[in-house]
Amino acid sequence: MTASQHFSSKKVISQKTIDLVKFTVPVLKQNGQKITNRMYEIMFHNYPEVKAQFDMSAQANGTQSAKLATVVCSYATHIDDLQALKAIVDKIAHRHVQTHVLPEQYPIVGECLLQAIQDVLGDAATEEVMTAWTEAYQVLAEVFINREQQIYQSALS
Ligand code: HEM
Repeated sequence: MTASQHFSSKKVISQKTIDLVKFTVPVLKQNGQKITNRMYEIMFHNYPEVKAQFDMSAQANGTQSAKLATVVCSYATHIDDLQALKAIVDKIAHRHVQTHVLPEQYPIVGECLLQAIQDVLGDAATEEVMTAWTEAYQVLAEVFINREQQIYQSALS
């Protein structure tokens, strides 16, 4: 397997999704941390068991939600050029492995992030926009899961 194959998703993102996600970039830039704060609020309320994996002081001072907001925005900006995100994905994937993030946890974060986007965007979160973000999240999740699987495996060998 080549290095580039480790950073990939088999899913193809449609042009329509790319356009819709890019359309949300300005509103994400403006409301990024509002969305990610809301996301953690929903997640820690609905799935309190995940709290144990997080450094809760980084939650309290907003560091973690700021980092997540930055990466969500970068992803939306570079959704048609995922290679531009390689370095940041790699860094986050290593942190995820350190904190024992598992593939089955991605739908949890997805559900909470999508709900948060919907809550903060309000009327701008049309059905079309939400469908596009659902598709976009699945692709990003797959990129992380693939990269993390590789890091977990290399730690075993
Ligand atoms: C596409 C989905 C995800 C994105 C974009 C994302 C993004 C991030 C970012 C930006 C960081 C900070 C990395 C750093 O400090 O350098 C991080 C850390 C972390 N993420 Fe994720 N993440 C995702 C999915 C998940 C999932 C599914 C879990 C499972 C519960 C998770 C749990 C964590 C934990 C525990 C940390 C470390 C936090 C700490 O240091 O307190 N993430 N993630």
